[in-house]
Amino acid sequence: KRKIWLTRHGESIFNTQGLIGGDSSLSEKGWDFARALPEALLHRIPMTSEAPAVPVSVWTSTLKRTIESASHLPFPKLRWKALDEIHAGSYDGCTYAQIANTSPEEYQARQMDKLRYRYPAGESYLDVIQRLEPVIIELEREKESVCIVGHQAVLRALYGYFAAVPLQDIPTLEVPLHHLIELQPKADGTMQVERIPVH
Ligand code: F6P
Repeated sequence: KRKIWLTRHGESIFNTQGLIGGDSSLSEKGWDFARALPEALLHRIPMTSEAPAVPVSVWTSTLKRTIESASHLPFPKLRWKALDEIHAGSYDGCTYAQIANTSPEEYQARQMDKLRYRYPAGESYLDVIQRLEPVIIELEREKESVCIVGHQAVLRALYGYFAAVPLQDIPTLEVPLHHLIELQPKADGTMQVERIPVH
């Protein structure tokens, strides 16, 4: 009865300013999410008497916003560098509008092919998908339930893999803040998916 949950970190200071990348802390709203997450998750954990039927562990990235978001969860935690957000290279800490104004050709190129577009000195979605391979291997080998507190691009890639979404559609999948995505393997090898708002 193992489950996999995917959630983005709570709203960060950078999110409130429309800035990409960086390593900012949570906003007040983000901290509200961090405090609400344990309760939301506990509702989804299959229990036998008082204890989880299957042990639960929590995987975060190495960035503050995921570590802070997981800080109230009462489970063992593991930090993965491979779960860090897509690296925007030269544009780390910019808004999309700044990129469009200062480098319209780069902005256009990303619009045209978001899957393959690689930020100068940074990463593409394909790069992210590739670096997630060890995480996916470990997740598939794992017998415990795992809650991954991650980032938009990284969770698009993980969700895309588990829900068998065509590669081309991965960079535009909806992965909103303050939601849990629950994945449960079914007997036929596919995943049952549920989305649960956290508040
Ligand atoms: O805006 C939050 C964020 O996680 C950024 O750090 C990251 O660059 C972006 O989302 C990824 O989303 P997209 O690929 O749509 O730009």
